[in-house]
Amino acid sequence: MRPGGTVGYSLVDRRLWFTPSVSLRSNLAYELVLGDWVRGIDGSTPRTFVPSVFVTGNTDEGRPPSPPDPSFDDDVAPVLERRCGYCHGETRPYAGLALWPVERLDEAAARASVEWIGWRVLAPGSPERSYLLYKVTGAPGLVGERMPPRDPLSRDEAAALERWIALGASR
Ligand code: HEC
Repeated sequence: MRPGGTVGYSLVDRRLWFTPSVSLRSNLAYELVLGDWVRGIDGSTPRTFVPSVFVTGNTDEGRPPSPPDPSFDDDVAPVLERRCGYCHGETRPYAGLALWPVERLDEAAARASVEWIGWRVLAPGSPERSYLLYKVTGAPGLVGERMPPRDPLSRDEAAALERWIALGASR
């Protein structure tokens, strides 16, 4: 069986996941194979892939709970204020990009990146299309420095930004 479904992707955790649109059968072994359409953002193909097999169980008891969605006020705004705001604030922001105060985020979301031509800085709903997330996770081939310069975000701070963008970047 080859079920259809959706693919999710986290830049922060470098993880790809597939959610089948149909329920898998219980107590059955499935093999996971990487399709030949998988490409890096520069068009490269995967260098190695170790096929893997998993076996479904009987019930969904014991499945770990999903982490709660980040709260804009508690998890996202403080990161933007403390970790980005003093360089990307209201007056003369670096790269012309203001991320603080929060009223400036609409402008950031409407803006094209000055460093990666053809990319948006913030694409609500699509973290993998948001240059900002490449800047904070330090993707290879980045223009300029990883953000914030010389003081990278913690995994939790970056994950809150990623999830917030995935959920539509609203405030
Ligand atoms: C110490 C100052 C400083 C801090 C703090 C800082 N930045 Fe930057 N940022 C810069 C500078 C300088 C540039 C332009 C040069 C470069 O990219 O290295 C830049 C460029 C950028 C760009 C590229 C803009 C474009 O149009 O392509 C993004 C996106 C960005 N920063 C996001 C962030 C985020 C998100 C944070 C907080 C997590 C942050 N920055 C924190 C100084 C800073």
